[in-house]
Amino acid sequence: MKKILFAASEGVPFIKTGGLADVVGSLPKCIDKEYFDVRVILPRYTCMKQEMKDRLEYVTHFYMDFNWTDAYVGVLKAEVDGIQYYFIDNEGYFGGFKPYGDNALFEIEKYAFFSKAVLSVLPILDFRPDLIHCHDWQTGLVPVYLKERFQGNDFFRGIKSVITIHNLKFQGKWDPKVVQNITGLPQYYFTPDKLEAYKDANLLKGGIVFADAVTTVSDTYAEEIKTKFYGEGLEGLLKARSGDLRGIVNGIDYEEFNPETDKYIVKPYNAVNFRKEKAKNKRALQEELGLQVDEKKMMIGVVSRLTDQKGFDLIAYVMDELCRDDIQLVVLGTGEEQYENMFRHFDWKYSDKVSANIFYSEELSHKIYASCDAFLMPSLFEPCGLSQLMSLRYGTVPIVRETGGLKDTVQPYNEFEGTGTGFSFANYNAHEMLAAVRYAEQVFYDRKREWNKIVDRAMAADFSWEVSAKKYQEMYDWLIGY
Ligand code: ADP
Ligand code: GLC
Repeated sequence: MKKILFAASEGVPFIKTGGLADVVGSLPKCIDKEYFDVRVILPRYTCMKQEMKDRLEYVTHFYMDFNWTDAYVGVLKAEVDGIQYYFIDNEGYFGGFKPYGDNALFEIEKYAFFSKAVLSVLPILDFRPDLIHCHDWQTGLVPVYLKERFQGNDFFRGIKSVITIHNLKFQGKWDPKVVQNITGLPQYYFTPDKLEAYKDANLLKGGIVFADAVTTVSDTYAEEIKTKFYGEGLEGLLKARSGDLRGIVNGIDYEEFNPETDKYIVKPYNAVNFRKEKAKNKRALQEELGLQVDEKKMMIGVVSRLTDQKGFDLIAYVMDELCRDDIQLVVLGTGEEQYENMFRHFDWKYSDKVSANIFYSEELSHKIYASCDAFLMPSLFEPCGLSQLMSLRYGTVPIVRETGGLKDTVQPYNEFEGTGTGFSFANYNAHEMLAAVRYAEQVFYDRKREWNKIVDRAMAADFSWEVSAKKYQEMYDWLIGY
């Protein structure tokens, strides 16, 4: 039995801010249990839901040499759906109302602490993974520490590591001297061939340099990040590591996201009866959100972190034009104030057409995936994207920009061949986006049979984890040895 440890900063069902949590919560369940013992380690955030905190069981605690003190490391555990979870506790680092804060230096200290604690706790748990699967910059120091101080110890020697890049935009950067002081790593680690990038210490870079393999969450993004536009300054390194870099597209949890059994939606439906049943969810949502109740109106959904990445500049630019069309727009998201206010403004201006819901709600997100006719995701960049996969699963036709995982998972409608699962456009241009939306409107209103066939194909597309989990397993086998 090969032992794998996932180390990450968030994971469903404990704590979630975005797609990373969905991946960490769903992929381990889909790895073949006959050959792999997959466990997950996360921070124990004070802001976790009480019902989840109540499920954690104290294991032990110890003190770890970190940042010139003996830092408290509490260890807790829980089992969910057959997966063993561990948690690192330290209220000084993981207290607060949100998992991530705004003080960049503190974030670095916090996740350096987490990364070192992840390794330090393993002998105490008597769990020696063959491979540690790290996710994003927050766990970038795990491969570094593993290759550095922990190599002196028999327990750690030979443990492999992989880092998956979910988002290259966030790297965890700060002045090298300060980071050296916090992490206790030797000075010679802070050179451009190791942790340093453009005069900063860079935790993600550390992970990419020291991990045995690097993956990202779609084939297209794996290619894109080797270019200047998408590479966020690390394109040179990623090109240099391209032999060890591969894209494995994300899946979603097909049990959690299932229109037939979804407990949040008013009217369950499936690929056979959606023509009749799906619109009942739309009615209910129109009522709930105070929009004009009319099943025939095309309803477009957005569920997203409200950040630059997601292409909201394009939406802002053509919002007035879009609202002249016969559509409704339902938005659920939180994030940058400018986008929160932009949607609030349009909600006020077009109150019977636009509904802006500036908060986080799993329940409403499911209702939107189920009720809308189309889902808009015009991202500037998108490593994979899960929202469009959820939309496909619910027969809600995605309208996306052809980038990253959006390009790999949404097949553009071709009216001549009768193929495609969504609508797309290539350039980051507001009117190109608007043209794609209007093309979708036209098919929706004037060629309903064609539209429904797009929905048929969308619902038939398979983005469960099955295929991608096998790719991870192959990689684990290859790194650990057969
Ligand atoms: P990213 O990880 O970049 O945020 P993804 O598309 O991979 O983008 O994943 C986003 C996940 O977060 C999806 O599961 C989506 O439904 C969820 N999500 C985003 N914003 C909200 C919100 N305000 N309320 C509920 N779920 C949200
Ligand atoms: C990141 C990316 C998103 C991806 C998710 C899970 O947050 O922005 O595209 O789907 O990670 O891999």
